[in-house]
Amino acid sequence: MKKILIPATSLLILATSNLTAGDVELGKQLNEEHCLKCHGSELYTRPNRRVKSLEGLHKQVRFCEQNLGLTWFDDQIDSTATYLNLEYYKFDLKP
Ligand code: HEC
Repeated sequence: MKKILIPATSLLILATSNLTAGDVELGKQLNEEHCLKCHGSELYTRPNRRVKSLEGLHKQVRFCEQNLGLTWFDDQIDSTATYLNLEYYKFDLKP
């Protein structure tokens, strides 16, 4: 097997490009269809909510999605996280 060397800078870009915007309308649909079974949307705005950053929001969406046994693509995760951010969390989009 050929060894592929990845420079640290491109790893950084890979890591930060995880937080892409996706499609907000799709995110809204996905959230309504799959995500309001265990918890309502009030969880997203409760005073002691656990998610504290945009990155954390992406992680939490991934976590819940996997718990559900769904196999979403990254763009579905991104879209849902973006929708939740715009609608509820309102984190600054710039890191
Ligand atoms: C199988 C049940 C279940 C489903 C379905 C589910 N979640 Fe969750 N979710 C949880 C639990 C449990 C918690 C943690 C609640 C707590 O900490 O009190 C949680 C917490 C969260 C939080 C963090 C709220 C906070 O405190 O800031 C977010 C965001 C979230 N879920 C998003 C989603 C999304 C998006 C989906 C759809 C992909 C989804 N959830 C589907 C069980 C579920």
